Amino acid sequence: MSDATGKRHPGLVSFSREHHHGLVQARRLLAAAGGEPPERRAALRSFRDAWEDTIASHFADEEALLLPLVESEELRKRLQTDHEALRKMAAACAASSDSSDPDGDLLASLGEALRSHIQWEERVLFSAIEKTAGEAVLASLAGRR
Ligand SMILES: [Fe+2]
Ligand SMILES: [Fe+2]
Repeated sequence: MSDATGKRHPGLVSFSREHHHGLVQARRLLAAAGGEPPERRAALRSFRDAWEDTIASHFADEEALLLPLVESEELRKRLQTDHEALRKMAAACAASSDSSDPDGDLLASLGEALRSHIQWEERVLFSAIEKTAGEAVLASLAGRR
């Protein structure tokens, strides 16, 4: 994300950096969705590895560290329902990543949901947090990773 090194508050930069990697996975899933089975399998395995390495803990950290900083009930709800839906899709994808002919629609829906969640966080959620959270709290997040 262009915000990762520019306007984004330093406390949120580690999250934005992870968003960049998440978007790479989302684009790969979307590109592979209509492709041949080997391409779909490779995209699913790459996603599964990224999920285990960083995405799952990214979600948990957002819930533990950022959710308490969100004043709007509506924004808090969306973060939680998005994460819940993405966790279900990720589990379905992990289950089908060893299949010889994984369902392209599954890749497309996961890719689209992940992309739109990340874009919403960057454009709406993080901007709201920067406006309402105190400087000291935001600064304390800078040592996260
Ligand atoms: Fe998130
Ligand atoms: Fe995120």
